[in-house]
Formats: sequence, C-alpha cells, structure tokens
Amino acid sequence: MDTDRIMRFALKLAGMRNVPADSGIHVKGHGIKRVLVAIDVGTSELLLARELGCDAVIAHHPAGGKAQLEGYKVFRRHVDQLIGAGVPKRAAETAVRSKLHQLEIQHHSRNYDQIPSAARRLRIPLVSIHSPCDEIGRKIMVQTVKGLDHGARVSDMVSRLNRLSEYRNALTKIEVRLGSPRNRLGKLAISHAAYTNGGYDVAEAYFQYGVDTVSYIHISDVDLTRLVDGKKGNLVVTGHIASDWLGLNRLIVELEKNGVDAISTTDLQPAS
Ligand SMILES: [Fe+2]
Ligand SMILES: [Fe+2]
Repeated sequence: MDTDRIMRFALKLAGMRNVPADSGIHVKGHGIKRVLVAIDVGTSELLLARELGCDAVIAHHPAGGKAQLEGYKVFRRHVDQLIGAGVPKRAAETAVRSKLHQLEIQHHSRNYDQIPSAARRLRIPLVSIHSPCDEIGRKIMVQTVKGLDHGARVSDMVSRLNRLSEYRNALTKIEVRLGSPRNRLGKLAISHAAYTNGGYDVAEAYFQYGVDTVSYIHISDVDLTRLVDGKKGNLVVTGHIASDWLGLNRLIVELEKNGVDAISTTDLQPAS
C-alpha cells in the first residue's frame, strides 16, 4: 500500500474526484503494511505509531501544511448543501460569509509545519484525510435515516442513528439541542462534511427556507444560544468524535480488505 492509494480509497468511498483543501499527503510512503489512524495527530501519535510497529499515520483533522492552512475553504461546501436543501444561492452565500472570514483569519496563524516536519524527521509517512471521511460518514447518516417520512418524530431520527454502533457505544449521547424529540421531524438536512459546523447562520438559513430539522455533529454554545433564542426548528447534535469515527471506520474496513493492518486510537468499532 502507498499513501497515494490510501487517499484514493478515501476519495472513492466519499464519491469525490479531487483531494479537497483540508486533506493531503504530508510525507509520502510506500510498502505500507500497518497504519495508525487517529482523529488528532501530534508528534506523540507519530511516536505511538512507531511504538506500535506502524509504518504510516492517517490523521483526520488536518495535521499540517496546506491542508491545515487552507482546509477552511472546504467550509464552502455548506453553500452546495444549503442549495441542495432548497436555500436560494444568494442566501446560502450570505450564510457562510462571516464564519468563512473568521476561519481564514484563525488559520493563518497555525503552526503548520511542526507535525509534518516531525514526521519527516522520523521518516514516517503521514496523510491527513478530513472531508472525504466526513463525507463517508454523512452518506452513512443519510442512508440510516432514509425512509423516515415527514410525519416521523425527531426522536425517530435519533433512534435510527443509534442503530450505528459508533453512536450506540459512544460515551456521548445524540442530543436534541433545539426544539424537542417529540416534534415532527419534517424536512431534514444532515449538515456535515463541510470542514466544521455551519454555526448559527447556516442553521438559520435552513430553517428560514423550509427545513424543519438540522443535524450537526457539534456546535458552539454561543451559536446554540442564538438559535435557542430564535425558537425555530430542531437541531440534533450527533456528537463530534462518534461522528468522525463513523467515516474513519469505513476507511479502516477498506484498508483491511486490501491487506493493510489498521490500528485505530479508539474502541468505537463498526458493527461487523
Ligand atoms: Fe470530521
Ligand atoms: Fe472532527
């Protein structure tokens, strides 16, 4: 196995053609037999990989380089998802503008070369795969709630998602942070795989244009407070880490099928 092929597997599972801005190969490698997969990779995970006999590392959150500095551009995927749910293009563009600008300013200061340079010094191949794995996870969520009609309750959606072992076994619960589990589910938008959650503006745009229930994998308390004050719609928060493993685990299964021993930094395994 080599690092290019690992990336191609992820893109294929996600249905993506090109490597998105939040993903990339920091240190190339080939002849990979055992890989460590972690959501967050620092120098400690590179050393952990070596300790565990791994010959490569896959990070979920961008571990450095351009993927870390420019990965925020993937936030624009919210525009496509909003338009897909019926939000007019102009309103979708407006909904991402403020947070996109904040993200650009925040990421400019990142210590982008510390981890890739450590990987180079340790001679350990390192790959970041962010939105492709989140897109794999999003597709699984969409598939899992398929068939729920508009008359279903929000709690029915939560029950469906809990069929997935990553959610069932997580220490975090799927939370209905806005609205109520007893509310009608109505029109649903699963908002994920766009770098980070869309915050107040994206959820508000969904609600304004006919979506009744939005799901995020996480949200800040500030954005949630504003949404709660607005008293519109339902917001289901599925949980950050369980949702990230949902996508990563599918990639792990694919790697294993192709003869790579993949070691993950969690016990949240997919149902076999
Ligand atoms: Fe993620
Ligand atoms: Fe994440």
